[in-house]
Amino acid sequence: MRIAEPLRLPCGATLPNRLAKGAMTEGLATANGVPTPALDRLYRCWSEGGAGMHLTGNVIIDRDHLERPGNVIIDRPPSADMKAALASWAKAGTVAGNHLWMQISHAGRQTQAIVNKTPKAPSAVPLGLPGGQFGMPVPLTDGEIKDLIQRFAIAAAAWLGFCAGQFALVAGR
Ligand SMILES: Cc1cc2nc3c(=O)[nH]c(=O)nc-3n(C[C@H](O)[C@H](O)[C@H](O)COP(=O)(O)O)c2cc1C
Repeated sequence: MRIAEPLRLPCGATLPNRLAKGAMTEGLATANGVPTPALDRLYRCWSEGGAGMHLTGNVIIDRDHLERPGNVIIDRPPSADMKAALASWAKAGTVAGNHLWMQISHAGRQTQAIVNKTPKAPSAVPLGLPGGQFGMPVPLTDGEIKDLIQRFAIAAAAWLGFCAGQFALVAGR
């Protein structure tokens, strides 16, 4: 088996080769979470690098739970401007024929305190990291969990609109 050979995955997707870029948060969206030309440039560059699959950094489904400022945010059906920005990002990131998969995320207890000091998470167990970068999480209620499920679905549907067989989705955290 050669690294340059296509790889068919159990989900049915066929990657053009066996190299993949992992999720790396970019922080290059606008304050409202809209992809920018800088994000397009980065992903075009990565696409031209030749890996068969690129996984985006966190794309967040709740703007109160960013993993960092500058995350792309899809927490509602996208406006015309947002659709255009997502389409531009998708196009730039697949210029070399690779797959571009979106990591859709809710940062939960990994929400930075500068974004939200009391983030929602499955339980009130803080991240065990020094430095006070993260607040004490508040457990989600059943209703809030159902709302989050809807938000994941909205983000997935928004991205799938630009898929044309070239994209897939990966849920984070
Ligand atoms: C700069 C940077 C940004 C990252 N951003 C994300 C991210 O947005 N989502 C995620 O799930 N993991 C993220 N990670 C974790 C990486 O995807 C990867 O799992 C981790 O770096 C371990 O792989 P490695 O040993 O090859 O570095 C990030 C890592 C780095 C170094």
